[in-house]
Amino acid sequence: MLFEIDLRIIDALWFILPAYFANSIPVNVSKIKMLEWLGKPIDESREFLGHRIFGDGKTWRGLFFGVAGGTLAGLIQQNIHLDAQVFLRSLLGNSLLTLPQMTVELAFILALGALLGDMVASFIKRQSGLERGDPAPLLDQLDFVFGAVFLSWLLIRSINYERFYALIIITPVIHVIGNIIAWMLKLKKSPW
Ligand code: CTP
Ligand code: MG
Repeated sequence: MLFEIDLRIIDALWFILPAYFANSIPVNVSKIKMLEWLGKPIDESREFLGHRIFGDGKTWRGLFFGVAGGTLAGLIQQNIHLDAQVFLRSLLGNSLLTLPQMTVELAFILALGALLGDMVASFIKRQSGLERGDPAPLLDQLDFVFGAVFLSWLLIRSINYERFYALIIITPVIHVIGNIIAWMLKLKKSPW
């Protein structure tokens, strides 16, 4: 066994992977010059109660590519399900490991939910007077998890609480570790 890892973490990560992709694609797509024309703000600069509805950081480009990328990730997961399970079983030396079944429909819901959750968070930030990009600790890191889990609950009417709690704990941890790695690789100017 390489290392001991709680199987609930593997389960939760496999389930939420389309949302992770949906959440991380928009910022990368925003750097592609060719797609700049698609970067129109979803709120078209409109205001609500004296504040921008979402702000310039929520664009049609991000929404489209995030949902498409997250759904594609789920399609791949659906197809490599058994192979991934065999691989992880031998990697972790645990024959009890089972991955939750991903489907392309579920992936679409999780990806869309992730980006809607992200937009709700931006709305809350704007109403609180925070500018685009201002930090809102925990809200910034968990908005998309709540959105994805909420939309999947709304449509499927079932929720795995153990998985949900695992995600709330591990997502901010992954965020911090990811930022430190990106900083060490000189992809980011600061380690946070
Ligand atoms: N992005 C986008 N469209 C989306 C979501 C994100 O184009 N629907 C891009 C934007 O370039 C955005 C970046 O991804 O600036 C990072 O996303 P996020 O951190 O969610 O936005 P912020 O710029 O921090 O804005 P906010 O304060 O509203 O969270
Ligand atoms: Mg942000």
